[in-house]
Amino acid sequence: MQTILVTGGCGFIGSNFVRLALQQLPACRLVNLDKLTYAGNPTNLTDIAADPRYRFVKGDIGDADLVAALFAEESFDTVVHFAAESHVDRSILGPAEFIQTNIVGTFILLEAARAAWASRSDVRFLHVSTDEVYGSLGATGFFTETTPFDPRSPYSASKAASDHLVSAYHHTYGLPTLITNCSNNYGPYHFPEKLIPLIIHNALKGKELPVYGDGTNVRDWLYVGDHCAAILRVLQQGRVGETYNVGGNNEKQNLEVVHTICDLLDAKVGLLPDGAGRRSLIRFVKDRPGHDRRYAIDAGKIRQELGWEPSLTFEQGIEQTIAWYLTHGDWVEAIVSGAYRDYYEKQYGK
Ligand code: NAD
Ligand code: TYD
Repeated sequence: MQTILVTGGCGFIGSNFVRLALQQLPACRLVNLDKLTYAGNPTNLTDIAADPRYRFVKGDIGDADLVAALFAEESFDTVVHFAAESHVDRSILGPAEFIQTNIVGTFILLEAARAAWASRSDVRFLHVSTDEVYGSLGATGFFTETTPFDPRSPYSASKAASDHLVSAYHHTYGLPTLITNCSNNYGPYHFPEKLIPLIIHNALKGKELPVYGDGTNVRDWLYVGDHCAAILRVLQQGRVGETYNVGGNNEKQNLEVVHTICDLLDAKVGLLPDGAGRRSLIRFVKDRPGHDRRYAIDAGKIRQELGWEPSLTFEQGIEQTIAWYLTHGDWVEAIVSGAYRDYYEKQYGK
């Protein structure tokens, strides 16, 4: 039986991964360690919470005693590490938590794994990271696994530091690590501070749609279920010590994404009460400081070595995502009516 520690399993990608892992690995035991920050939401996992193979532990990955005690109690053979502060704009407003969780927290987990696993080779520590560690591209080119790190935001710098630590633990101590660097995800349970869920929510409410700068920055979008499937694939078949880039070859300018959401919502729920289409809600707002121009992933290595391919195009994935948000209004409402409102007003005004 595989005994898996998932960190950050109550967040966006983590909760999608927990659900998939319980489906795909019938004989696993899965422990979810999550601090329940503003981004952690136990209701993301209500449907599987009573599964006898699942245990939730509320706690901080930076709590070395807790992490060591969990390793001793559960004898993990697998760690899938999602827990992080994940929002670039928040890292600009206040980087301290990013340094603590993303760097120090990852270090604590690595130390616990090193102590518990000694020289075992039948174990895996999979670190979930981002393509933002590679910096920003111009109009052409792609990030590969050998692109030098060049992070530009406190978020991406903290993730780059954690990636380096994970690599160092492999090279120095022989810890059986794997790293995935993925492009922008979207899909169910995405916290509504990020572009796609924020635009869906505001467009449904008839609120302004804030687009940073001129809206021509490019992101490479991947449906969250495809990312989670890639992580499972890397866990099962990835070569120890390797990094795998994950992406769906779906480059879009931000404005194109916003237009797509507006048009799909107009078609699905009707025009705004004043008869206008939702594109009329778009407002070009002050640009993000240091805003990365373009991200684009070359996913050739995971495709060729492990046979992973995304299952959805952006057009399919965004339809499914909008359908999910249309049927999960209560989930979004519970977030936007809570403490999140303070952040929103600080960032965008009332
Ligand atoms: P998220 O912000 O939705 O969730 C983060 C989760 O981690 C939350 O449940 C939170 O409570 C938990 N957490 C935060 N600090 C913690 C701590 N100190 N101890 C324990 N738990 C803690 O993030 P996400 O978008 O799901 O991203 C998950 C991971 O994937 C992150 O490591 C992120 O860097 C990486 N990633 C994200 C994307 C993306 O597009 N969202 C793309 C590539 C990689
Ligand atoms: P985001 O979802 O924050 O992801 P990341 O910064 O990690 O790529 O932002 C995606 C893109 O959308 C990015 O170029 C910034 C832009 N953006 C806006 O134009 N308006 C917004 O309100 C937000 C949150 C993001």
